[in-house]
This record gives sequence, C-alpha cells and structure tokens, in this order.
Amino acid sequence: MTERRRSEAELALEETARRVMPAGSFGNLAFDIVIREGRGGRVWDVSGNEYVDYLLGSGPMFIGHGHPEVLAAVEEQMPRGTTFFANNEHGIRLAAEIVDAVACAEKVRFVSTGSEADLYAMRVARAFRKRDKILKFEGGYHGMSDYSLMSLAPKRPGNFPQAVPDSAGIPRSIRDDVLIAPFNDAEMAASLIREHKDELAGVIVEPFQRLLAPQPGFLDTLRAVTKEYGIPLIFDEVVTGFRFAYGGAQAYYGVTPDLCTLGKIIGGGFPLAAIAGRADIMAHFDKGIVGDDGFLMQIGTLSGNPVAAVAGLATLEILKRPGAYEKVFATGRALMKGAERTLKEAGLTAQVIGIPPLFDIVFATGDIHDYRAMLRRDAEREKRFTTRLRAEGVLKGDSKYYVSLAHDEADIRRTLAAWSTAAKAEAEGRPLAA
Ligand SMILES: Cc1ncc(COP(=O)(O)O)c(C=O)c1O
Repeated sequence: MTERRRSEAELALEETARRVMPAGSFGNLAFDIVIREGRGGRVWDVSGNEYVDYLLGSGPMFIGHGHPEVLAAVEEQMPRGTTFFANNEHGIRLAAEIVDAVACAEKVRFVSTGSEADLYAMRVARAFRKRDKILKFEGGYHGMSDYSLMSLAPKRPGNFPQAVPDSAGIPRSIRDDVLIAPFNDAEMAASLIREHKDELAGVIVEPFQRLLAPQPGFLDTLRAVTKEYGIPLIFDEVVTGFRFAYGGAQAYYGVTPDLCTLGKIIGGGFPLAAIAGRADIMAHFDKGIVGDDGFLMQIGTLSGNPVAAVAGLATLEILKRPGAYEKVFATGRALMKGAERTLKEAGLTAQVIGIPPLFDIVFATGDIHDYRAMLRRDAEREKRFTTRLRAEGVLKGDSKYYVSLAHDEADIRRTLAAWSTAAKAEAEGRPLAA
C-alpha cells in the first residue's frame, strides 16, 4: 500500500490549525488533510495528492466542483454585489423554483444552514400547534440545535420515547420536550404519536435516515397518523432534496409532508438553506396574517444571499436537464455493484447499503434498518478502510459516499481499484502505513 505523501506546506498548515482551532479543525473532518482545490468529481490536497471525491463538501457539490455554468453565474453576480439583506431577484427566483419543484412547498423562507432550517421548521410547527413537544427518530440528524441534538448518536440508547442528549451544554429542560421513536418501526411511531397527540407540535424525520431507506409503508404511516391529528409532519430534506429526484425524497417515495427543510444542493456550494411548506403553517412567519401572538420572528443577515441564489439556480438548471438523475443513479449503481463484488472477492464480511446517489460500505452482518442495527458496524474497521482508501486516492467522510453528476468512468475505475487494494490489505490484516 502506498503511503499518502504529505508536503512541508501541508504539515505547516496542519500545525497552525492545531495551534489556533479546537481539535485543529473546523469541526468536520479531522485535521490530517488540507484540501487545496476541487474540480468536477476530484479534489487535491495541499501536498498535491489527487482524490476521487465522494465527500462532495458533505453533499452540496452534487454536480461536481467548479461547474463552468455555476462559476459563470457567480462571476456575473459578484461585481454586482454579494449581499443585500433586502429581497433580490435571484433569491425570489430560487424560492419560486422550489415552490414549483417540491410538492409540499407553497411558501419558502431562506436561512443560511440546514441546522437553522431544522430549528425554524420545528419552531414554526410549535407556533402553529401551540404545543411544545417534537417527536424525532433515534439516529436522525437535524443539525445542531438543542432539540436536534437528542438521541442522534446515543452510545447507550434509552427506552423509547426517552431522549438522550448528544452534547454537553444542552438545557436539561429540552429533554422533556423531545420524544424519540425507532426509525422504520411504523407501529411504534404511530402509537407514540397517538399517545402524545395532545402535546405534540410536530414530527420530524429524515425520509431516508442517514444511510437507512424507509421500509415500505413507514413514511405512509407517519403521514396518515399525523394527518389524522393535524400534527405537522416535517421531512428533513437537507440531504435528499434535489438529490433523490428533482422533487426530493417526497417525490421519490411519493409521500408529501406538511413542511420540509432544504440545504446543501440548493445553495450550489454556498451557504443557503430553506424551510418550505404549507401556506397556513408558513403564515406564522408573517405578522400580517397571524398577528403579534402567532408571529415567529425570523431574521438572518445572509438569508437569500444573491451569490448563493445564482449558484443554486444554475445548479438546479443543470439538474433539470434530461438524463441528469439517470446518470447519477447509473454511476452510483455501478459503484455499489463494484463494491459488493470487491468485498466478496476479498472475503470480507460487509454489505453495501443506501441508494445510488448516497451509499456506504458497512462492515456488519444482518438486516440494517434502524440506528441500533447500525451500532453493530465494525467502526474501527470502517475507519481503517477509509484511511486505506485515502492512500489510494479516494476521499470520503466517516460515513457515506456522495455520488455526483461529474463522476465519470475513470473515477469509477479508479475507485474500484482502490477498493480492491484496500479490501485485500484489510483481509490480510496489513497494518496501516505509519
Ligand atoms: C439531514 C440533515 N439535516 C440537517 C443538516 C445540517 O445542515 P448544516 O450542516 O447546513 O447546518 C445536515 C447536515 O449534514 C443533514 O445531513
């Protein structure tokens, strides 16, 4: 196995990072890689190593880095102003495009990050229902707010529906306002919703939770039971929006929520996210409709930022073209099949889970359909495998391969070769290069 070459320049940057930032990083990937640039489906580190990029900036770069049409749109906007706080044409057009594309979206409110979008989606549900409790699913990720950081990744999961905080610094009182249900257990979720119907403000779910596909009927059951009691159902589509289909996971699975959150792809690689949904719920952002008592104040310096909006619009324009999703799905399918073959040939106990635009290799046996099953993963082995791949020129995050429209045959070939080398090394128990 080749060792990843690291230049003096990269090592010096790493040293500075460790000196001036907690854990030496932005809080996302570890400090041991510093990215210099990205183009199409590839990125380069400061040492000059080239990688097929499955991190994709954690998902926004769905059409690849530096797409010429996105760059042209951004370059045209930049000299005209980079942020205004006031309404601007591009943000308005992007909101209209979201309303046209996304089934639940009658109105749209922009923010800058997915975390904020989720925070406001839960808050607007609380304003609408005049109740406090939110039901979320164990292992479901909805950003970094106090409500969201409940039972995202509990080491010792509790009894349902008790919430377990994931972070220091969260007020104790929040715990009482979040109910936790197991993903993909429609019966349990429905009975918890029924039991707590008079206290619930909303139910939030990733329609495709991390790497877990919803089992047939799961989303339909959530839809039916929330509808029965008038409880807003929120789909967190920060990852799935415009990725699973142009209309997002709600189009892909054919289930329309009351609200959804969007991020990543809609900003074309710039900070932009949104809450979108039913007009009567979104009305709580409009004092003119709901009056002082029902009004949810929401202000953000960069909301609807014109540079992000033109990048998002250019990205969506490309995704709307015939064949775009077919190509991403074909690339992802080829990769998933290749991964399965390679792992089998190496005799490793592993499986490939997810769907073509978003999958992972999981070192675990048995059916994986919820967070607790995911805990069976051999996390150490997965980490090692990711490190081996990096030395072979493939970059991914701790979990997930994000597939892009820019990935091509050469990227697939290179990835298959990297998997093969890494799988052999893993099967032989070879130590990592120092
Ligand atoms: C499903 C989901 N929701 C919310 C977020 C938070 O988005 P952001 O990192 O933009 O705050 C993420 C981020 O990865 C996500 O995957």
